[in-house]
Amino acid sequence: MNILVTGGAGYIGSHVVIELLDSGYDVTVLDDLSLGFEENVDRRAEFIEGNILNEQDLETALSIQPDAVIHLGAWKAAGESMIYPEKYTYNNIVATLKLLIAMSKAGVSKIIFSSTAAVYGYPEYLPVDELHRIDPINYYGYTKMAIEENLKWYSKLKGISFVSLRYFNAAGYDAQSRVVKMERNSQNLLPIVMEIASGKRDILEIFGSDYDTPDGTCIRDYIHVSDLASAHLKAYNFLNQCGDNLIVNLGTGDGHSVLDVVKKTVEVTKHQIPYKFVDRRVGDPESLTTSFSLAKKVLNWSPVHSELRYIIGTMWNILQPKTNLLHPEIESS
Ligand SMILES: NC(=O)c1ccc[n+]([C@@H]2O[C@H](COP(=O)([O-])OP(=O)(O)OC[C@H]3O[C@@H](n4cnc5c(N)ncnc54)[C@H](O)[C@@H]3O)[C@@H](O)[C@H]2O)c1
Repeated sequence: MNILVTGGAGYIGSHVVIELLDSGYDVTVLDDLSLGFEENVDRRAEFIEGNILNEQDLETALSIQPDAVIHLGAWKAAGESMIYPEKYTYNNIVATLKLLIAMSKAGVSKIIFSSTAAVYGYPEYLPVDELHRIDPINYYGYTKMAIEENLKWYSKLKGISFVSLRYFNAAGYDAQSRVVKMERNSQNLLPIVMEIASGKRDILEIFGSDYDTPDGTCIRDYIHVSDLASAHLKAYNFLNQCGDNLIVNLGTGDGHSVLDVVKKTVEVTKHQIPYKFVDRRVGDPESLTTSFSLAKKVLNWSPVHSELRYIIGTMWNILQPKTNLLHPEIESS
């Protein structure tokens, strides 16, 4: 069984590749290394450096006749998508449409797509489930919504079956440190807090201190990247067994505030995290958590690595490999 993973040199993709290889699949990665690292692609996988927007690169990658495509290659910075939407039109919408066209030409009929909680916009109720209204408030979220709509059409018209995985906040790293390089320019809270703990940044800016949450800071649902990776495998099995389409949320159902993350990081790393409060950011909901009951029911998936302490421990392990390889928090999960 060969699986093509686009964006397999990226943060989540490199973990998905490890999960597939460990489970006995052959894996081919297509990544242009614009944000990923070749060092993060497990050597057991075949690596093709190429761009999804380039039809020749797509043809080369699909010539292996993969059993399925796992499509992670995209941009993901919501703020940037509001300033430079055209970048996201090309790389997220046009590139995925080219991929779908190339797949139908090559006779590849299964795709697992990386979608996002950003398709929901402001939550009307919590935890957000798959029946929640779709109303993205940034262009990034819109690009994912647009692809989900196209997946439905390509399924109807071209027989491509799909699972769209709507990730909440991915965090953590492979506990065996097989992914060696941390994400480039991450805008997410946990990588920033880790950079402060390791002395690469000075201070954390917390956007808003007066939200209607127990400590006044925003709450998010952090899901360990290895849990996300295992969901891709289950999604692949689902496509093989059922052949139906599926759109499903991936999160833990638990929320952690910004200050919870800061406190837990100090506890795990034994380093201070200086912070200051600044104005709220436009478009930040105060709380965003999901229910994983559909994923449990349909995919038989539930998160097992997503305790906050463990997430932070696995990130710290990458930054401080010598001192923390035997970190007790990591071994406990
Ligand atoms: N990280 C999260 O919390 C999160 C949450 C929801 C959804 N997602 C989605 O998951 C996917 C992976 O996210 P990530 O966090 O691993 O990001 P990432 O930036 O680390 O990985 C994306 C990878 O895709 C590659 N890539 C981008 N455009 C490409 C193109 N045109 N051709 C070939 N390769 C290309 C990059 O080089 C990079 O290796 C994205 O689609 C993102 O929208 C991520």
